[in-house]
Amino acid sequence: MKKKVLSALLSVAMVATLLVGCGSKAEETAAPAAEATTEAAPAAEAEEAAPAAEANGKKVGVAMPTQSSERWINDGSNMKAQLEALGYEVDLQYAEDDVQAQVSQIENMIASGVNCLVIASIDSSALVNVEKQAQTAGIPIIAYDRLLMDTDAVSYYATFDNKGVGTAIGKYIVDNAGLDPANPQTIELFMGSPDDNNAHMLYAGLMEQIQPFLDNGALVCKSGQLEFDSNCTLRWDQQTAMKRCEDILTGYYADEDLDIVASAYDGLSYGCMAALEGAGYTADNWPLITGQDAELMATKHIISGKQTMSIAKDTRILAEKCVTMVQAVLEGAEPEINDTTTYNNNVIVVPSYLCTPVAVDKNNYKEVLVDTGYYTEEQLAE
Ligand code: BGC
Repeated sequence: MKKKVLSALLSVAMVATLLVGCGSKAEETAAPAAEATTEAAPAAEAEEAAPAAEANGKKVGVAMPTQSSERWINDGSNMKAQLEALGYEVDLQYAEDDVQAQVSQIENMIASGVNCLVIASIDSSALVNVEKQAQTAGIPIIAYDRLLMDTDAVSYYATFDNKGVGTAIGKYIVDNAGLDPANPQTIELFMGSPDDNNAHMLYAGLMEQIQPFLDNGALVCKSGQLEFDSNCTLRWDQQTAMKRCEDILTGYYADEDLDIVASAYDGLSYGCMAALEGAGYTADNWPLITGQDAELMATKHIISGKQTMSIAKDTRILAEKCVTMVQAVLEGAEPEINDTTTYNNNVIVVPSYLCTPVAVDKNNYKEVLVDTGYYTEEQLAE
């Protein structure tokens, strides 16, 4: 029975994703971030996609970081649709990467009497006080995709294998770039936000894979910016990555091409692509470019050859796992957990469910993204 409900929920979420997320305005990730909102527009549409469920009298506050990236729009609408299908009232808020706005949104959720909080943080250490307030008010917290650091107020964590994302990106480079010390290739790293634990884990997974090739000379990082502190990108910001890539190309690649852009997120990849185009790169010397999230635009770029690969993260499954955690804290059900050791937030080890990230390129995008209903052929052809 439980299985049936979950698979029904998954179909609802799939429909919601197709109706709402994929064709959304976030496709143009170059667009400036919208103002912090009290209610995301796509989520309102998701409401229509969900079947009417009898209200169960409980309210869940869902705090999401930003609508400037497609994945979070999908995450929010999936969560809302799946929770509403179970009869929960949902207060979904996006803070548009403004840390203080997120704090205020969560404070308002607590004041409005939510029974549970689901938080995908902007700055994972900046919510300690508001998390304490929730704890004092007896409101359980689930960390969504990004670990909430420095707090014991978090009950569970639903995420993807974050080190595994870095491992998959690194492995892709190792397996596909034809690395050979006799014919060195240049590489630059564009990593994620220093206030996001996921970014550090991704970096660790990536370095584990590519370090031997930096050591044997098959890979050369001409900027020397191999330390996370020198290649991270605050708030995963596309413009920041573009500017840094421009500076690197001007400063270190006047006489030699950049061969590999190890980017930790599709948005950063778009920034690097703009910098490469600006520096005169063409199909003839275009680098191998990685990414993460397999956004619709990135997938189109993968098909056209502009981006080489990305990491597909099925936000429908993540939402499904997170919903089981909400049910666990509110109904006393058993949540699905598959990791009880990795995610130490400096105070406690948070019981987690890790979904599996999948490397996607032009050879397998159909199988991974189209056959699973994540995108339609039509969307990819538009
Ligand atoms: C997520 C990634 C995402 C990045 C930027 C990370 O916390 O795990 O999937 O690409 O944030 O939004």
